[in-house]
Amino acid sequence: MTAVDYRGQTTLITGASAGLGAEFARQLAARGSDLVLVARRQERLEALAAELRAHHRVQVHVLPMDLTTGHPGQALAEQLERLGLHVTSVINNAGFASFGPFHQTDPVRLRQEIAVDVTAVADISRAFIEQLRTAGRGVLVNVASMAAYQPNPRMALYGATKAFVLSLTEALWEESRGTGLRVLALSPGATRNRVLRSRGDRSGCRGNEAGLAGRRGPHRVGRAGPQEPAAQRHRGKCEPGDGFPRPPHGHPAASHQGHRPPHRREGMTLGGDAAMLGGGAVGIG
Ligand SMILES: NC(=O)c1ccc[n+]([C@@H]2O[C@H](COP(=O)([O-])OP(=O)(O)OC[C@H]3O[C@@H](n4cnc5c(N)ncnc54)[C@H](OP(=O)(O)O)[C@@H]3O)[C@@H](O)[C@H]2O)c1
Repeated sequence: MTAVDYRGQTTLITGASAGLGAEFARQLAARGSDLVLVARRQERLEALAAELRAHHRVQVHVLPMDLTTGHPGQALAEQLERLGLHVTSVINNAGFASFGPFHQTDPVRLRQEIAVDVTAVADISRAFIEQLRTAGRGVLVNVASMAAYQPNPRMALYGATKAFVLSLTEALWEESRGTGLRVLALSPGATRNRVLRSRGDRSGCRGNEAGLAGRRGPHRVGRAGPQEPAAQRHRGKCEPGDGFPRPPHGHPAASHQGHRPPHRREGMTLGGDAAMLGGGAVGIG
């Protein structure tokens, strides 16, 4: 397998205003990719864009958008066409989780979660996949989660959305074979950021996906999992089993190496010094 050369590519990243998405942007810019950054908070995107232009001499475009509204794939495609931009890689990273008993969750928030975590991922994948295949040298990364691998009480909808992302992406991998497009589901474990803080957990660790993933070095799920995000290393350690339900013994998610479907051979590692795409031979590494 050969490493992806991102020089001269243009990568669209959703959810680039924070967390993993911002780190994707930093690492891809360092590898020479021009970027299109998507999220709602324009000022954060602009600040990141300015930082990346200054440090890496790449072109960075900011497209503020609420992914819960309309048809985000079509809307992004139209905006990019107006700008004369042709993306060669897409990272569907935007997402959030609701926590607590399902019956107590605000139904509006549930619909928004489905809109961002499910509908937008499918819509944007559909809108861009032919273009990406034609380019034939980039990646489509859909960010799933360790929560995709088993039912998740108190994060019931979130786990279901990520199971959707995983299933969709694996199917798109198969459909894209031989096209030159690499399709990857990335399944991070716990990272300390807003998704986890949104449940009111000040530690950013307790009761989160660390309980699923544990923290035992590289989490490779189909070779597409995180090592140890920098934020976690720098701000404290998440411990396995810290409130998030552990998968039962023998469950694929109980072992980071245990679930490696043959159709997800190529991979990325999110981790290392930060949310790093790369790892060994493939991806952005
Ligand atoms: N944190 C974890 O432990 C963890 C573990 C496994 C998987 N993941 C997945 O990794 C991905 C990134 O998560 P993160 O932890 O980096 O989250 P984060 O720090 O909260 O960032 C979420 C990003 O999604 C964007 N976003 C949310 N709602 C949006 C909307 N309606 N329209 C447009 N953009 C929206 C946010 O931007 P704006 O607010 O500016 O719109 C932000 O840039 C998510 O898919 C998450 O499910 C996270």
